[in-house]
Amino acid sequence: MKSPEFQPISAVAHPNIAFIKYWGNRDQELRLPCNSSLSMNLSGLETRTTVQFDPALEQDQLILCGEVVSGPALDRVKHFLDHVRSLANKNVYAHIESQNNFPVGAGIASSASAFAALAMAASHAIGLSLDEKDLSRLARRGSGSASRSIPTGFVEWQAGTSDADSFAFSIAPADHWDLVDLVCVIDSTHKSVGSTGGHALADSSPLQPIRLANVQERVENCRKAILAKDFESFAQVVEEDSNLMHAVMRTSSPPLTYWLPETEVILWNVLTWRKEGIPACCTVDAGPNVHVLAQGKYVSEVEKRLAQLPGVQKIFKANPGPGASLI
Ligand code: DP6
Repeated sequence: MKSPEFQPISAVAHPNIAFIKYWGNRDQELRLPCNSSLSMNLSGLETRTTVQFDPALEQDQLILCGEVVSGPALDRVKHFLDHVRSLANKNVYAHIESQNNFPVGAGIASSASAFAALAMAASHAIGLSLDEKDLSRLARRGSGSASRSIPTGFVEWQAGTSDADSFAFSIAPADHWDLVDLVCVIDSTHKSVGSTGGHALADSSPLQPIRLANVQERVENCRKAILAKDFESFAQVVEEDSNLMHAVMRTSSPPLTYWLPETEVILWNVLTWRKEGIPACCTVDAGPNVHVLAQGKYVSEVEKRLAQLPGVQKIFKANPGPGASLI
């Protein structure tokens, strides 16, 4: 008989694509980022997670897409749940079941939706009642970008100065702008250095201080462009910011080279199309796959062109999406 104190709670959250990137932490344990960032939640792609705390359990259990998880992935979730338990002052283990409706290696980071859904479900399941700001702070502890999957639509994560003021908030609802993310998959193998390891290397690049020197200006310019639906200004700042992050990655010790030749082909073509009058732009996360951003009426033309480029195996399309919610 399960304890009546703890009910199973389910939540859903969406991944997000960063327009101004988070790269490098001032505090790795608290995931306090070196800079503020801006993103859009991706509708249609989601993680669904159910959490049940149970006094009869002797350790946390994690089932991901039907498979029992152990090793470093389980340790990361346990560490996160230890924080949830300390907030609630309750020493009880949990059974967690989680499903993604998008494949691993699709160029869509799953840690953002995973920890946003887990923060939402686990906090409710243990009896905490957190507002959006505190949920975002909690999700941040699991994965920095997860803080941005809590609020709806277009989201800004203010770096803040401490655990208390480093959280994300919505700057515009999902229906504000008909922007579409066309995720071009060119390689679906697992990357050798994930984001967490990458953040720890950011300070070893001589270019990180240069990237950080005017990142707040890029945040302001990107926010203004989103609010004004000014695609040309948006495209310029988004590509500049992505290129700066990859310059830092490629000059860290050891260097992180995520791009493949096919990545460059897409970047070059999209830039050429934009000069021809097709408004589209690119951003790339910690992997070789390219997120191509376009406004609604240009999406089918951009998709048609992308599908003809060498190496494009699959294209996922996502509109601006909602924040995390209970199911
Ligand atoms: C390149 O949030 O995945 O996608 O906090 O270690 O989980 P952890 O890192 P993560 O880093 C995201 C890096 C990025 C840029 C971004 O999404 O802002």
